[in-house]
Amino acid sequence: MEAEIVYCKKFYARVVKLSTPSRCLTPEELTSNNQHVSEKNCLLVKVQCQDSEDLKYTHLLMNDILDRAERTQVTNIVLCPYGHFTNKRGSKEILIAIFDTCEEQLRNHGKNVKRVHFGSQKAYGYDAQEEILPTSRRSYPYIKHFYTTKRYIKLVTNNSLVFFQEYQRNEASYVLSMIDHYTSIIDIGSGYGRSYEIIQPHIVEKQYVGIENNQEMYINAVKTTLSHPHHKVIFCDALKLISLFPNQKNTVVLCLQNTIGVFAGSTEKFLQMLGLFLREPSNNACISFLKQSSLATEGVAFYESIKSISGDIDYQYSDFKTGTINMTNGYRSHWYSIEEVRKLLVHFNRTAVFEEHEHHFFLTFK
Ligand SMILES: C[S@@+](CC[C@H](N)C(=O)[O-])C[C@H]1O[C@@H](n2cnc3c(N)ncnc32)[C@H](O)[C@@H]1O
Repeated sequence: MEAEIVYCKKFYARVVKLSTPSRCLTPEELTSNNQHVSEKNCLLVKVQCQDSEDLKYTHLLMNDILDRAERTQVTNIVLCPYGHFTNKRGSKEILIAIFDTCEEQLRNHGKNVKRVHFGSQKAYGYDAQEEILPTSRRSYPYIKHFYTTKRYIKLVTNNSLVFFQEYQRNEASYVLSMIDHYTSIIDIGSGYGRSYEIIQPHIVEKQYVGIENNQEMYINAVKTTLSHPHHKVIFCDALKLISLFPNQKNTVVLCLQNTIGVFAGSTEKFLQMLGLFLREPSNNACISFLKQSSLATEGVAFYESIKSISGDIDYQYSDFKTGTINMTNGYRSHWYSIEEVRKLLVHFNRTAVFEEHEHHFFLTFK
């Protein structure tokens, strides 16, 4: 699957002529909704699929759409079939299945979705707002080309940069000192199971649920919890926190290794969820952040050292002062400052407690 995401002020598409039906191209039914589509202030998502494998990677495309929507604060999304990226075209059924999934999930995230007709010549036009959001194009699955758990462990977990080793050490002792006080642990963005392996010997009598929305990570994490009856990892979006755990008590939510800074989807919505979760006084959270002021120095060295899994640093679209780094393969990370986090917590009814270190800081609540 290949997709391009464009931010436009105005978009229109009008069906001019239905394509001649062939083995791989049967036009979908023409309706008043897809015959003529126009939208303002929207993300245009042009998608071409190649084979049934593509369905497996819809969540990666979704992550990208939600990420771009958050950056531009856009709620209107236009899904548009696009047959011009390669000669290898997938079937209508697969593309429609991908669009159905995206449409449903985008609506669940409060987006308005319109769909352009599949299987026709169209007249269409749009004005891309490149200075607000550069158009991005990528093939899915992009991670597969770079990411393997073995490589991730070698480059990230076993990274030899002193600042990162210190981060892992301090984070581990911080988390271990917290979890003792709770009977359940929810690990948001549990990754391939790194943090689980650290805390596992200390939580044998407790409940543990890891939540992970990246398929490769999830598949590896599942193996780590298989032997324990009260420990599991689920493959889903962390935004489901409240619907999955509506009456949870005595639980600590972990969000480690700057997961908030690489969160796929709306970080703001996730924090709203967390705020609701923390209305129960016996619950708590333990969140670890990499520090904004260290991004230009330690951060750059770190991303240079892991570029075979995350791509090169895209200097043009990174802003070290405000803490955002973008990679050429679309990976993005935000490093926060304590002041910035404080502002995000204004609606929490709990008092934030920060533990500050040179290049990272931890947050928990009284
Ligand atoms: C920086 S990694 C940290 C992994 C792990 N917590 C650790 O300490 O090793 C962030 C993880 O969060 C996951 N993630 C990001 N957004 C998510 C979301 N909306 N729902 C579930 N997992 C998410 C990513 O796939 C990734 O595995």
